[in-house]
Amino acid sequence: MKAVNRGKSVVKSGARRLLRRTGFDIVRSTDNLGGVDDFIPFEATMRAARAAGLSVGDHIDAVMNGTPGATQSTIDELRALGVFAAGPDTVLEIGPGSGRYLEKTLKECSPGRYEIYETAEPWANYLVETFGVVAQPTKGSSLAATPDSSVDLVQAHKVFNTVTFLCASRYFFEMARVTRPGGRIVFDVMTETCLDPAAVRTWATQGGAGHDSFPAAMPRTTCVDLFKTLGCGLEAGFRAPLGVGSTEVLVFAKGG
Ligand SMILES: C[S@@+](CC[C@H](N)C(=O)[O-])C[C@H]1O[C@@H](n2cnc3c(N)ncnc32)[C@H](O)[C@@H]1O
Repeated sequence: MKAVNRGKSVVKSGARRLLRRTGFDIVRSTDNLGGVDDFIPFEATMRAARAAGLSVGDHIDAVMNGTPGATQSTIDELRALGVFAAGPDTVLEIGPGSGRYLEKTLKECSPGRYEIYETAEPWANYLVETFGVVAQPTKGSSLAATPDSSVDLVQAHKVFNTVTFLCASRYFFEMARVTRPGGRIVFDVMTETCLDPAAVRTWATQGGAGHDSFPAAMPRTTCVDLFKTLGCGLEAGFRAPLGVGSTEVLVFAKGG
């Protein structure tokens, strides 16, 4: 009996360690050492959310990411910044995963078309079936299936801190290309704003093992200067929680 209890507490503390470490891979079901496309495995996450009596988005916020309400708070900030005010008719999201931002975005505006680029097929299929979004062929960092200047709001959340510098950078060019003049580009990155010495120590001691590209940093100035050359000006930036640290959400507007 004692041995069983000890076993349980070892499992629990291991799970807690995992939780603190990434905020994402506690229910990882595959042997992923380096890739990021199964950070949130479909079946295990759905099962865990059901068992907790939570929507999948709320489960990821509260249980996997340890910050209840985190997704809604980012959406609230974006609303306050006027991102949804113009009623974007076409929205494109890179790496929606479980759809926790997608679902809340749909509550803020009623786009006629919502495109997703998602490498995890089970999640992409689930989002197509549940929300009627359009899953585009996803390979590397290309938005090739989307025409130039055709999207009102392009977004990605908790994606560019999981992929390599080049993957994120290539997506940046594509995001600027597909955005319509007057449209918005929203994404979060782990900038220097999120990386004071204490934060670096926390990541180094408690975060991220097991995924080579996570957590990936991206200089703020690099983003701002690059998007400027692509005709997109920074409108706002705010912090959002991520695992043991944070990312910075940047909002750009494409010039008309
Ligand atoms: C950490 S998860 C975040 C998911 C979701 N946005 C959220 O915040 O819950 C990263 C997501 O990006 C997807 N992903 C990884 N590499 C990608 C790529 N090159 N293109 C599109 N999606 C990608 C993963 O499958 C996963 O769904």
